[in-house]
Amino acid sequence: MSNVIKIGILGCGTVGTGVLKVLAKNMSEITPRVGARIVVSHILVRNLEKKRDFITDDIKLTNNLNDIINDPEIKIVVELLGGIHPAREYMLKAMKAGKNVVTANKDVVAQFGKDMFDTAEKYDVDFMFEASVGGGIPIITPLKQCLTANKISEVIGIVNGTTNYMLTKMSEENASYEDVLKDAQKKGYAEADPTADVGGLDAARKTAILASIAFNSRVSLDHVSVEGITNITLEDIAYARELGYTIKLLSICHDDEKGIDVRVHPSLLPQSHPLAFVRNEFNAIFVRGNAIGETMFYGKGAGQLPTASAVIADVIDVARDIVKNRFGRIRCTCYEHKKFCPIEKTVSSYYVRLLVDDQPGVLGAIAMAFGQTGVSLRSVIQKRKVNQNAEIVAITHIVEEEKIHKAEAILNKLPAVDKICNVIRVEKEAAQEE
Ligand code: NAP
Ligand code: HSE
Repeated sequence: MSNVIKIGILGCGTVGTGVLKVLAKNMSEITPRVGARIVVSHILVRNLEKKRDFITDDIKLTNNLNDIINDPEIKIVVELLGGIHPAREYMLKAMKAGKNVVTANKDVVAQFGKDMFDTAEKYDVDFMFEASVGGGIPIITPLKQCLTANKISEVIGIVNGTTNYMLTKMSEENASYEDVLKDAQKKGYAEADPTADVGGLDAARKTAILASIAFNSRVSLDHVSVEGITNITLEDIAYARELGYTIKLLSICHDDEKGIDVRVHPSLLPQSHPLAFVRNEFNAIFVRGNAIGETMFYGKGAGQLPTASAVIADVIDVARDIVKNRFGRIRCTCYEHKKFCPIEKTVSSYYVRLLVDDQPGVLGAIAMAFGQTGVSLRSVIQKRKVNQNAEIVAITHIVEEEKIHKAEAILNKLPAVDKICNVIRVEKEAAQEE
C-alpha cells in the first residue's frame, strides 16, 4: 500500500485554491478514507509572481507542464485551467504519460469527450469529470453508477447558477436584467465572459455531458439547441407568475421513440414543479428512470468549495484504486449510437406575447392565424395597453415546434400585429406524462 499519493494541479484560481483549502481542512478525514495521504506536489500557473494563499512550502509552483508530466511520482493530474486550449492538450499529454486525469472542464468534456475517453482507454488511465456539471452536486457518478439499472427517459436541470440567480432576483425583487447580471458577476457566479452564461452556452455544455451519460450515446455541444435568457423581460416574468408559472433556464434531455432531444432554453415551469423551488445560484437536476421513477439532485452548482468538493471526490476515487492496486474505473459509457430528434419535431405548449392593434376583430384574426397552422389555443389574456397597442398573451395546447414557427410567420405578416414580443416554451407538470 502506498502511504502517499502525489498529485499535480494545473491552475490555481478559484477552484484550484478551493482544492488546496478543502484538502488542508479535511486531510485528517480524507487520509483514512483513502488509505494514503494525498499530497499536492506541483501546481502549474501562468504567473509565478502572483501572491497566492494556501501554498505551503512543500508545494512547487511551476509554469512548465513538463515538471508535472515528467515526475514519475505524480499519479493524478487535476486540470483546473478552464477553456479548451491548452487544457485539452495538457490533459492528453498527461494521460499519454500514464497519469490519471481529474477535471472540472465542461468545455473540453462537452466538445472533445470522445477523444479524452479514447485516450484514457488507450493508456489505461482514469478520466474523471464530476465537477464539470452542477459544481458540487454529485450527478455524473450517480448517473454512471447508482442509476445504471434504469432506462433513463428524461433529465431536466437548472445547471447554470448565474442565470438562475438573475431570474430569481428579477422575479422576486423586480430587479432589472442589467443590475442582476452585474450582481451575479460580483458574486463570482458568472464566467469571465458572461455571454456564455446568459446566452445558454455554459448550460449547453453541461447538457451535452448529462445527455451523453444518461442515454449512453454521445451528445456533443453541436447537438444541443441553445437559447439563453437575453430576451426574458420583467413583463414575461409577471405574466408567467399570474398564470401559475415561474421562468427558468432549463437544460432538457429526452430519449424516446423520436430520438434524443437535447436543448437549453428558458421555459415557463409550473410553480408546483420541483425545479420551480430552486432559487438563486442553486442548481438541480431532475431525472426520470423506469425503475427509480423521479429523483432530483440539488445543491450549489458553482463556487470555490462546492466545486472543490466534487474535484477531490474524484481524486479520492482514483486514489483508492491506486491504493488497492485496482484499475479500470467505469470509463466511456457511450456504447450506443442513438438518432437525434430535430428541434422542429419536438412538442411543447407555448407562451406567446404580442402587441396588436386595439381594434374589433383583431383577436379573431390572431386566433385564425394560429388555427391555420394547426395550433390550438388553451387561453388568451388581454390586460393592458402598451402605447396605442393592446398586449395579448396566448398559451397554446401542446403542438410541434415547426407549427409554432409557421404561426409566427403568418402573425408577423398580419397588419394588425405590431410585434411578437416573445415566444417561450411551457414545461409540463413533473408527474404529467406526454
Ligand atoms: P480561474 O479562477 O480563472 O483559474 C484558472 C487558473 O488556471 C489560474 O490559476 C491561471 O493561472 C491558470 N492558468 C490558466 N491558463 C493557464 C496556462 N495556459 N498555463 C498555466 N496556468 C494557466 O478558473 P476557475 O474558476 O478556478 O475554473 C477552473 C475550471 O473549473 C474551469 O474549467 C471552470 O469551468 C471549472 N468550474 C469552475 C467553477 C467555479 O465556480 N469557478 C464551477 C464549476 C466548474 P494564473 O493564476 O497564473 O493566472
Ligand atoms: N458560470 C457557471 C454558472 C459556473 O453560473 O453556473 C459553474 O460552471
